Order: sequence, then C-alpha cells, then structure tokens
Amino acid sequence: MRRRTFLKTALKATVAATAGTGALAALTRGAVQAAPGAPPARVALPDGFLWGCSTSAYQIEGAVTEDGRGPSVWDTYSHSFGRTVDGDTGDIACDHYHRYAEDVELMARAGMRAYRFSIAWPRVLPLGTGTVNPKGLDFYDRLTDTLLARGIEPWPCLFHWDLPQALQDKGGWTNRDIAGWFTDYALAVTARLGDRAKHWAMLNEPSVVAIFGHGTGGHAPGMTGRVNCLKAIHHQNLAQGTALAALRAAGATAKGWQLGTVLSLQPSWPVGGLDSNYPASLMWDAVWNRSCLDPLIKGRYPELLEADFARIIKPDDLARIRQPVDFLGVNYYSRMHQQPDPQGLFGTGYGSPPEGTRKTAMDWPVEPDGLAEILVELQESYGNPPVYVTENGADYPDSVGPGGQVEDGDRIAYLRDHMLAAAKAIDEGCNVKGWMVWTLLDNFEWSEGYRRHFGLVQVDRKTLARKPKASYDWYASVIRNNAVPLA
Ligand code: GCO
Repeated sequence: MRRRTFLKTALKATVAATAGTGALAALTRGAVQAAPGAPPARVALPDGFLWGCSTSAYQIEGAVTEDGRGPSVWDTYSHSFGRTVDGDTGDIACDHYHRYAEDVELMARAGMRAYRFSIAWPRVLPLGTGTVNPKGLDFYDRLTDTLLARGIEPWPCLFHWDLPQALQDKGGWTNRDIAGWFTDYALAVTARLGDRAKHWAMLNEPSVVAIFGHGTGGHAPGMTGRVNCLKAIHHQNLAQGTALAALRAAGATAKGWQLGTVLSLQPSWPVGGLDSNYPASLMWDAVWNRSCLDPLIKGRYPELLEADFARIIKPDDLARIRQPVDFLGVNYYSRMHQQPDPQGLFGTGYGSPPEGTRKTAMDWPVEPDGLAEILVELQESYGNPPVYVTENGADYPDSVGPGGQVEDGDRIAYLRDHMLAAAKAIDEGCNVKGWMVWTLLDNFEWSEGYRRHFGLVQVDRKTLARKPKASYDWYASVIRNNAVPLA
C-alpha cells in the first residue's frame, strides 16, 4: 500500500473508531432500536448471510497414526524438545477423528450453516505424493455426509499447515516442485469429495506459514531466514495458482465448485503514528498482507519486495499465480504495530498498540476497526471480491459460574465488536457474505499448545468432554436472529 492509500484507510478507521459502538448503531441501516423492556437493539446482517465456524485438522483431529496417516511437519515439530509450551502435541488433540459426529451436532444445534475444516494432506497421501490412501479420504467422506445430513455446507481447506514430513524432507515449500505435488493432491481430494463439497479453499494463511515456519522458525517446520521465507511465499502462491487452474480444467464450473483461498489480513500501523515508523509498517504490510494477495489478484509482487522476488521467480510464474477466485477468506485478529528492528527478517518488528488498547489473554490487541479497514481496502483496491470472514476469535481464560456454566463474556464482546465492524463495512458496500468463528473447540494452538482457549466449546483435557460456553449460546442467538446485539 502506498502511503497515501494507507492514510486514507487510517482516516476512515479513525472516523469509525470515534463513532463508537453506540453511534455505530445509528449509522448502520439494519439497526433495530429497542423499546423499553424489549430485547437489546441489534444490527441486522443481509439476508442469506452465512454463519458457521472454522477449525483445522492438526489442531483437533488427533488419531495421528490411524488408518495409514503419515507424519506431518507438525508431528515432527511438536515432538521436538522445547518447540511447544509444555511439550504439547496434536497426538490426541480433541479426538475429533472419532468424535466428529458429536462436533457436527454441536454446530447444528447452534444453527451453523457452514463449516470450514481442513483436510490433512498426510492422511490422503502419507508420503505427500504417489499412492492415495483411501482410508484417509474415508474420514472426510464420513464428515462431509454427516455435515450435509445436518444442513451444513462443507468448506474444506486443502492446506492448514500440516505438510507431509516426507515432502519436507525434499525441501517442502522451499522446493519449487511442490506446485505439482500440491496440484496432484488437490485433484485427488476434489475427485473424491467434489460431488458433495462445493466450496474449496486452497491454502490457509500462506504468509503466516512462510514467516513463522520458514523465516523465524517459531512454527513447523522450524526453518529460518529471509530467503527461505520468500521461497515459501512464492511456492505457495505458485502451488495455489497451479491447483486453481487444474481444478478449473477439471470442470469446476460444471461441478458447481466455488474456488477460493484464505489469507491472514491485518492492517500494519506505524507505532505511535510516527513518520520514522512508516517505512517499517509499509514493509511489514507488503510481507504479511500483500505478498500473497497482490500476485493472486493483481499478478505482481508489492513494489517493496520486487527485487527480492526477482531472484526466485521464473518467467510466467506471475501469470500462473494470478487466477480468478470465487471467494476470498479473510482471517482477522488485530492490527500489527510496526517499528524498525535491525534484527527483524525484513528490518521490522512488533511494537505496542496505542495506550489503553484492550488485549486478549494472548496479548493480542483488540481492534475491531482494523477489520473494517481490511474490508474497505479489499473493496477499494482489490475489486471488492466476495469475502467470507473465515477466522475471528479470541483467547481468554474461561471462568465457571455458580451453575457450572462457562462464562466467557470477554469472548462474546470480542466477537460482537468485530461482527459490528463488519456490519458497518457491509453498509459501506463491502462484499462480505459470511462469518466463520475461530473456533468451535478449545484446541491445540500450535506452539502455544493447549493453554490457549479460542473455542465456543470447552474441551476437558482429561475426559475430552465438550461443554458449550456462554459464547456458544450467544452465537446461536446471533444466527437465529441474523443480527448482532449491540450489548
Ligand atoms: C491462524 C490459524 C489458526 C489459529 C488461530 C488462532 O490464523 O493462525 O489459522 O490455526 O489457531 O488463528 O491463533
């Protein structure tokens, strides 16, 4: 983003922020005013707005050696000493592999109509390429049928971080050949499930995989360095473009498939609004947000990174990467506050948000207006594609009330404020079609293990029993009314 665009977006955000939640109601067309004694005022979402939730395979499935599943980079990483908090692993996770029917029932009872889950590549192709393991696909077959029987649209995502270890042994995302490996895998999965699953997301947050998994080493596979990070970005982009083209050639339109992908998009702000921090914020914006968004939609890398990528890309790569998508999944959690950091991979580092900004237990700032900024930016600079917010949620410690109810008012407030920000953006013409909360169950939060709780449903770590929290009931009422209460 150029500085001018950045400022324009920031200005809009300030207007939205000063409007506050109360004024937001007045500004929003769908607002229903409460009469005295009546239920609280609500902001209505457009008819047909799609409500659901998101999960990912390694974070919930468990059963890591069952039915022929091969190891993934996250198995290797979580089993390596000191990589995750308390040495936690996804070996058992939420045991969703065996309890999926109960979990689908939880979604259905809340009225959810869409479920974004991920397919574990190492279940389908234990060695990453070659012979398909039918038993691995059987699981997703059962899941798909169970979802459809309960009126929930399956939204499979082909890659949510659990790369087969066998492919990592060949360089994983740093090896250009992965474009072909991924495409073969995408064709195998869609051939089996595509008669029933119609919405297909290619990747989940490719820039995050590149930055943490290949740049800083804080996620699997634990690789480091700027070049590895850039290669991982480019090869994910290339794999995605190649697969999208192959799926279209395989008859996506006739089969009624909607093809898209999921990006983590978070506005990058200069710490303190200082001029001296602008270059750092723009650089981080280029790396985190635009290194995957721009080549997909505009067919080029952000100017600030062009020289870096020029060393990696081959002729025609950008044409292969730029593909039409039927939807864009947006994962949003908070803004990123940047300042120069000579130790940082790209000369930038995280700083503090403005004084007084609320934080989640994970210390992430709570900044709902940042979501509106992203949606407006997609509207103004990227052709206003159909957007689904495919992740938004928060880690908070849950307290248990006198009746045994899990009280998570902080999570309710977080979700409410972000939904209201999206409703406001929709009023301004942003093409937002649905919302999938992150996440259904408390689960394995990557290197943070099980100490983080993002679920609408608590999972007892000893018995694995599920217990819906107050936020679950709150979300069910949002879905029932197709409207978000203001308080
Ligand atoms: C991500 C992933 C999820 C996380 C969630 C909370 O966005 O990082 O898609 O797997 O668990 O975002 O950190």
